[in-house]
Amino acid sequence: MKYFENAKIKFEELKDKASVKVLAFESSCDETSVAVIENGRKILSNIVSSQIPIHTRFGGVVPEVASRNHITAISNVTSQALKEANLTMDDIDMIAVTYGAGLVGALLVGVNFAKSLAYSYNLPLVAVSHIEGHICANYLTHQELTPSYICLLTSGGHTAIINISDYCERQIIGSTVDDAVGECFDKVARVLDLGYPGGPKIDKLAKEGRANINFVRHNTLANSYNFSFSGIKTAVINYVHNLAQKGEEINKADIACSFQEEVTDELCKKAIRACLEFGQDKLVLAGGVSANSRLKDKMEKLCKQNNIKLYFPGLSLCTDNAAMIGSAGYFMMKKGLGLSDLDLTASSTVKI
Ligand code: KG4
Ligand code: ZN
Repeated sequence: MKYFENAKIKFEELKDKASVKVLAFESSCDETSVAVIENGRKILSNIVSSQIPIHTRFGGVVPEVASRNHITAISNVTSQALKEANLTMDDIDMIAVTYGAGLVGALLVGVNFAKSLAYSYNLPLVAVSHIEGHICANYLTHQELTPSYICLLTSGGHTAIINISDYCERQIIGSTVDDAVGECFDKVARVLDLGYPGGPKIDKLAKEGRANINFVRHNTLANSYNFSFSGIKTAVINYVHNLAQKGEEINKADIACSFQEEVTDELCKKAIRACLEFGQDKLVLAGGVSANSRLKDKMEKLCKQNNIKLYFPGLSLCTDNAAMIGSAGYFMMKKGLGLSDLDLTASSTVKI
């Protein structure tokens, strides 16, 4: 029987299987990660091999360097993930892989590795959107969390408020019209010479500063659920360049704090408004910027005031990892979504 005919039968059978073990791959940016997840909720292993030290000297991710390092790492990371889960390939029921969004060369490493394993071991292959993965990271941290809820997705590539009506079902309420919020954190960190990745550095430095700078910009989106972050990014860059030209002291901590306050205010206000307007009493944070301590603190207070229950992933599950892809792959399988043939390829963008 041909590979895909067989995969379709096995995929269908998995829906009723009591224990489904998914081997998952994530290689969309600078983390090579492989995980084994049981029934979408339990992490049996989650190995993340980060390339951050390699890219730090370039001040950001160099796509070609990322692809080459994924190639070098992926086989060992897979062996480690199986070993830590105390399993062999014979115990695996399904393979899940991020096919987009991200750097195409980097994604292709994970996609091709996953395809070759799926073919060799005759396993169904599920193509997972990185966005679906970030949302599902919460199912690993919060065993009791079930749809429906409002999700605030904030990462290096995306910023959106999404209504999650069921597993793997979503409607966008608003999104950024220009930069993603994580990208904005990274660019502000770069102009302040804080290093890469910038988000955690701003988070840390902001604790030593005061929110005493008003980064003036037009905000025409105040009444909508959409976001714009390029205005504040430009305002910070201009502010820093002006001081530098005049030879005046640059208080990096105050800049970091003022910037972070404005951005997190904007995220909080709109997410809470969406919960109230759409009648949802659960708010779920997803994506790398959910690691931001100030965002979580503010959101916690506002949620309490408005009787909304707040969820966010454990710190290691906020940023890129394969565990979240394994969880998403499982819930997609339960709904009969994502089964792919061996012509699966990578995509730099995906629909939110
Ligand atoms: O989700 P993620 O790992 O990758 C994408 O899918 O883009 O998100 C990475 C982004 C980066 O922009 C990084 O600076 C940001 O998440 N980030 C943070 C924090 N930790 C990571 N931003 C603000 N505060 C943090 N603590
Ligand atoms: Zn991500």
